[in-house]
Amino acid sequence: MLQKNSIFSLFNSQEELDRNAAQFIIEKAKIAINEKGSFSLVLSGGTTPVNVYKLLAKEQVNFEKWYIYFGDERCFPLNHLERNSNVAELIWLSKVNIPKSNIFIIPAELGNKDGSLAYEKILDKNKSFDLVILGLGDDGHIASLFPNHQWENTKQVISVSNSPKAPSDRISLTLSRLSNTEEVLFLISGKNKAHAFNRWKEGGDLPANLISAKNQISIMAFDIF
Ligand code: 6PG
Repeated sequence: MLQKNSIFSLFNSQEELDRNAAQFIIEKAKIAINEKGSFSLVLSGGTTPVNVYKLLAKEQVNFEKWYIYFGDERCFPLNHLERNSNVAELIWLSKVNIPKSNIFIIPAELGNKDGSLAYEKILDKNKSFDLVILGLGDDGHIASLFPNHQWENTKQVISVSNSPKAPSDRISLTLSRLSNTEEVLFLISGKNKAHAFNRWKEGGDLPANLISAKNQISIMAFDIF
């Protein structure tokens, strides 16, 4: 069983998923900005959100009120193109007027230990997110929390040294920190995700089963059956 407060939407094409996800994010931003003047968003890495970020780059909204965080990061040097933050910067964040000071990248160039401690301090200044975007790995991982690993949950950020998905050194927000949010949006695309998604639905021992949100978990999918 998926979480009780989850809504599952299956789209007919990748384009439809991307469009709906981008509009969903814009809508949640509007609501948060109307209510309290700012919108804090946690980005996912991986390939699935890339087209959504491209669509967001074309939007003309009050991006100056958006605050951007990352759910996980790969420990590569600062300018490495496979860093999740660099992908998002290149295709979206650098193209809109989000102030640089509103973008909180995970300092993974410091290595997973020092980088996770440094991000913990950054997150101390933001107690709750408005929206957390997540992907789902073929093996059922989310952010850099992998099945059959220990997910230390007393901190906000952990260092990962044995990631089965390269690179092995990573930094990840914990389940409790990712769940400290109004909304979660999962973007899941491709038949290779079917097994992991079915295990999640059956209540399998996967990190996705332990994610929660104060309001709703929205799951947007294409081609996963
Ligand atoms: C990463 C991630 C990871 C990703 C999933 C799905 O750094 O790789 O943040 O959790 O979201 O592996 O990735 P895809 O969207 O590429 O399938």
